[in-house]
Amino acid sequence: MKSFLLGLLLGVVILPVVTLLYFVIGHPSVAVADAPLPLEAQIVQIPMEARVNREAPKAAPIEASASNLEIGAHVYREQCATCHGLYGRPSPFGGEMYPQAPQLWEPHRNGTVGVSDDPPGETYWKVAHGIRLTGMPAYGKVLNDTQIWQVSLLLANANKPQAPGVLQLLKQPLILEPEGQPVEGTKTPVPATAPTK
Ligand code: HEC
Repeated sequence: MKSFLLGLLLGVVILPVVTLLYFVIGHPSVAVADAPLPLEAQIVQIPMEARVNREAPKAAPIEASASNLEIGAHVYREQCATCHGLYGRPSPFGGEMYPQAPQLWEPHRNGTVGVSDDPPGETYWKVAHGIRLTGMPAYGKVLNDTQIWQVSLLLANANKPQAPGVLQLLKQPLILEPEGQPVEGTKTPVPATAPTK
């Protein structure tokens, strides 16, 4: 009886208090540069794989035709390249995220480029639903279903030679600079560039 009460006290009172104290006065990982929390990767990875296995469509409803891949490349440039990089041009901050945004045009394991080893249905699921607590957005309401398939098919074929049109879209740097100065007399709500001294 005595050890039961002791166990109860330990479990119900002391453990939650210690945990709370750790969060308040300890230094749990919150910054991007901090070390991962214990089991953090596993806690996300295992249920994620289970969901993808259950819900990802087994076959794509559209073909990986030249025009679908080219539209996929347009979608990729506009929506994905800032984090996931372009062909031979990694994202300047993709590696500074936690978790890092994988560079989807970088070759890694033998013959794999980005997620070319994943079935397109898996990529479709991740793009449509996003990946919680990682910075990977859910595009289900941003892109239409066909666009999500087009970009997913493009990424599934990232290890293959690309058509010149696709390659051009993937190689051209993103234009992040403002397009020149406003014409004299026009009002801009926010200055396009910081004023120079
Ligand atoms: C704001 C940054 C950001 C944008 C924009 C973004 N992603 Fe991501 N994405 C991430 C991060 C971070 C991860 C890593 C998640 C993880 O480790 O689980 C990720 C993961 C992924 C994965 C899974 C990679 C793997 O190894 O399983 C795919 C596929 C993906 N993104 C595709 C896309 C596509 C396609 C787009 C555009 C439609 C896009 N992402 C836009 C940040 C972004």
